[in-house]
Amino acid sequence: MATEVMIKPDGVQRGLVAPILERFLSKGYTLRGLKFLNVSKEHAERHYADLSSKPFFGGLIEYITSGPVVAIALEGKCVVEQARKIIGATNPLAADPGSIRGQFCIDIGRNIIHGSDTVENAQKELALWFPEGLVDNTPVLYS
Ligand code: PPS
Repeated sequence: MATEVMIKPDGVQRGLVAPILERFLSKGYTLRGLKFLNVSKEHAERHYADLSSKPFFGGLIEYITSGPVVAIALEGKCVVEQARKIIGATNPLAADPGSIRGQFCIDIGRNIIHGSDTVENAQKELALWFPEGLVDNTPVLYS
C-alpha cells in the first residue's frame, strides 16, 4: 500500500523538509518517490479538484503555487491511515501536539503538509504526482 504526501510551500520555506521526512522514515515507511518542484495552477487544481466549490479554494491554489513543494510517495503497512495520524488534524489548533501539524503550525490555511485521506485518493494522487510510476526501493541488506 502507498500514499502521497506533499510538504506545502510554507513547510519547505520554514526548513521543515528534513524533520518531516524523518517522522515517516523512522516510523518504518519506505520512500518510493521524492520530488522538489513548483506546481502549476492546473496541477494544483487537479490535486484539489474535490474542493473546487469551497470558499477557500482560490486561496488554497494560490498558497500551493506560491513556492516549491516536496511530493513524497511512501509505502508500508496501513500507510494511508497512519500517515494521516502522523500528520495530525487539518486544523493545527485541533491537532495532537505530537503530530506534525500539532508540533509545527497554527493556521489551517498554512498547515504545511498534505496526506491522502483514502486509499482511493492515494492512488489518484500518486498517479497525478508520479505519472512515471514509483521507484523500486526493495532493501538489499545482504550481498
Ligand atoms: S473540508 O472543507 O471538510 O472539505 O476540508 P478538509 O477535508 O478539512 O480539508 C481539505 C483540504 O482543504 C484545506 N483547507 C483549507 N485551506 C485553506 N483555508 C482553509 N480555511 C481550509 N480549510 C481546509 C485543508 O488543509 C485540506 O488540504 P490538505 O492539503 O488535503 O490538507
